[in-house]
Amino acid sequence: MAFTHQHLLGLEGLSRDEILYLIDQAGQFKEISERDIKKVPTLRGKTVVSLFYEASTRTRTSFEIAAKRLSADYVTIASSTSSSTKGETLLDTARNIAAMRPDCLVIRHHASGAPHFLAKRIDCPVVNAGDGAHEHPTQALLDLLTIRDHLGRLDDLSVSIVGDIVHSRVTRSNVHALRALGARVRLVGPPTLLPPETAAWGEVHHDLRSGIRNADVIMMLRLQRERQGRNFLPSLDEYSRYFCLNRAALALARPNAVVLHPGPINRGVEIASDVADGAASLIMDQVTNGVAVRMAILFLLTSRVRQALTEAPPVAIEEPQPERLRRRAV
Ligand code: CP
Repeated sequence: MAFTHQHLLGLEGLSRDEILYLIDQAGQFKEISERDIKKVPTLRGKTVVSLFYEASTRTRTSFEIAAKRLSADYVTIASSTSSSTKGETLLDTARNIAAMRPDCLVIRHHASGAPHFLAKRIDCPVVNAGDGAHEHPTQALLDLLTIRDHLGRLDDLSVSIVGDIVHSRVTRSNVHALRALGARVRLVGPPTLLPPETAAWGEVHHDLRSGIRNADVIMMLRLQRERQGRNFLPSLDEYSRYFCLNRAALALARPNAVVLHPGPINRGVEIASDVADGAASLIMDQVTNGVAVRMAILFLLTSRVRQALTEAPPVAIEEPQPERLRRRAV
C-alpha cells in the first residue's frame, strides 16, 4: 500500500488501507521528535509554503516544526500581512506563490473548498490545514494515531463526538475516517448544533449521558462562537450545564476511555478543567502527534513530486523509507 494522491485535501473517499498507511507512516516519524537533535535531511532542498487565512496555534506551528525537522525550507504567510489585504484574490496569491516553485502549499481558509479550488489550478501539492466547516484531515489523522497509541487498536471502537458538530471540520474528517475503519460513531449535542446529515454519519444523541455511555473514545469539540452567525444556543451557561464533559459524565464511559479535543479548549464550557488535565485526557498527546503526522504528509507528497519530475517510469519505485532516513541525523 502507498499513498498515491498528489494532494491531501480531505479524508472523504480515502480507503481504510490508505488511512492506515498514513497513520503508520506518521508513527514512524514520531521518534525523530524524541531525539536530542531533532533533525534529519529527508527534505533538504524542498520548500514548503503555508498560507493561513485563519488563526491557528497548533496546526501552523506543527507544520512548521515538521518541515524544519525534515530540513525543508519553510515560509509562512499570514493573510493579515499578505497582499490579500490590498484586494488580491486567493487564486492570484496562490499562483504567485506557485510561480516561486515551492514543493508543497499548506493552506487554511475560512471558505470550505478553498484547498480543492487551488489544487485544480496550481502545479504544486496542496495540503488542507482546515477549510471552513468542511475538513481538517491532518487533525483527524493525528487523532487516530493518538487513539491507536493509547488503546492499541483502531478496530471495534465506539467513538462519541460531542458538541458543535455543525461547524466542525474536525468532525467531518474524523467521521469519514472512523467509518472507513468500521468504528461505531455517535454524534452528541443540542439539535441546533447537529446538521440534518449527521443522521447518516452515526447515532444522534441530544443527551450527553446516553451519548457517551460505554464509549471507548470521547472527542469533545470547541464551541465555535466565531462561526455562529446567529444564536445557536440560549446561553453558554445552559450549554455547559448539559454538554460540558465533567468527571461525573466521564464515569459513564468505559473505564479506560480516552478523551480528545482538537483545541483550543474552552475550559468550563465544553470540558471541565479536571477532565482536560486528567488521566484520561490525550489532548497534549494529540499535539505531539500532530508533528509526526505533518512530517509524514510533507514527506509523502513532496517525494511523489520528485518522482514525477525525474520522469520515473510507472512502476513501483522504492520511496525513501523514514526508518532508514531518520537514522542519518544532520
Ligand atoms: N486543532 C487545531 O486546528 O488548532 P489550531 O486552530 O490552533 O491550529
